[in-house]
Amino acid sequence: MKLLHVVGARPNFMKVGPVIRAARAAALEQVLVHTGQHYDPAMSDAFFRDLDLPEPDLNLGVGSGTHAEQTARIMLGFEPVLDEHRPDWVLVYGDVNSTMAATLVAGKRGFRVAHVEAGLRSRDRTMPEEINRLVTDQLADLCLTPSRDADQNLLAEGIRAEKIRMVGNVMVDTLLFLRDKARALDVPGRMGLGRAPFAFVTLHRPSNVDQPAVLDQLLRALDDLGEKMPVVFAAHPRTRQRIDQFGLRPPNGTVRITEPLGYLETVGLVEGATLVLTDSGGLQEETTVLGVPCLTARANTERPVTLTEGTNRLVESRREAIGAAVAEVIEARRAGRFRPGRPEGWDGQAGPRIVAELVGRG
Ligand code: UD1
Repeated sequence: MKLLHVVGARPNFMKVGPVIRAARAAALEQVLVHTGQHYDPAMSDAFFRDLDLPEPDLNLGVGSGTHAEQTARIMLGFEPVLDEHRPDWVLVYGDVNSTMAATLVAGKRGFRVAHVEAGLRSRDRTMPEEINRLVTDQLADLCLTPSRDADQNLLAEGIRAEKIRMVGNVMVDTLLFLRDKARALDVPGRMGLGRAPFAFVTLHRPSNVDQPAVLDQLLRALDDLGEKMPVVFAAHPRTRQRIDQFGLRPPNGTVRITEPLGYLETVGLVEGATLVLTDSGGLQEETTVLGVPCLTARANTERPVTLTEGTNRLVESRREAIGAAVAEVIEARRAGRFRPGRPEGWDGQAGPRIVAELVGRG
């Protein structure tokens, strides 16, 4: 059996690793295609290194652009690749533009598509990822979901039960696999943070960084947070660009703005942090598994189990709202109210379950 994996952007990389490992153990033939959606060394190469991923067999080099440009370039580049390799399954991951673009091409060419992390829904179509999720799941031949709520979302959209399989959360495989290695790097110590409280922050969603007034509120919230404890703010290229473009004053005081960090550095900081403030999808899950309180600066989440069974809480992207939530988290932490959450199937074995499912379907 031949698998063709398509990845393109940072959050895809930690999802493909466990599937590649499990497929290797099952002696399956594999091709790894990188679309080039993310291309900066800090957004791509660093993750391949940290996650010990094989070099991609090819990189389509699509780069940045509008959604239409990026999607179209991926589709054009991917079509001949499919014809050359003729895989039994095309595996797509998560909800980025590369996921949807590859699915559209494979679906129309009659290749079977398996979507890893299927069924998540924020019900917010202003999020580009929500459009990607809806299209990908409608076209996929196999929807591999991380949690039961995702199964329900798919059934409600008319997707047949036999196309849906709950396999658990593949990103947790990676987290559990590399957690000790991340810990051994002692990133907080190397950054001079020691064992004292600190906060870890990432922000990059268009809803937070593309409007000057919202981004300004968030930067002021970071100033306030920085008065309570040191803050490490790992800034996405998009966020940096917007701060410059809007002429906003970056946060000061104890807020340290860094380049985007690698996977091991990020996990090391998250595990040591008193709290995480983010709009990332992946960090909502990672904080849940690590038992670290997470404030998600969004109006909704496609990962509701992190609210009900984990450490996550939604917070408005306003200075006062974040300040109040931070104060509550500090209090709850003092009372020992945060424990690691382990929703069903978040056990480090999702990769082998995915491969078993593919093999079982022939
Ligand atoms: C993409 C994903 C988002 C994911 C995020 C993680 C989509 C629709 N969005 O958003 O779901 O959470 O990745 O990082 O697929 N840029 C660089 N270097 C890079 C990549 C991007 O400088 O390697 C800059 C470019 O100016 C680009 C901007 O960042 O225009 C945004 O990049 P893009 O890939 O369009 O979306 P992300 O915001 O990264």
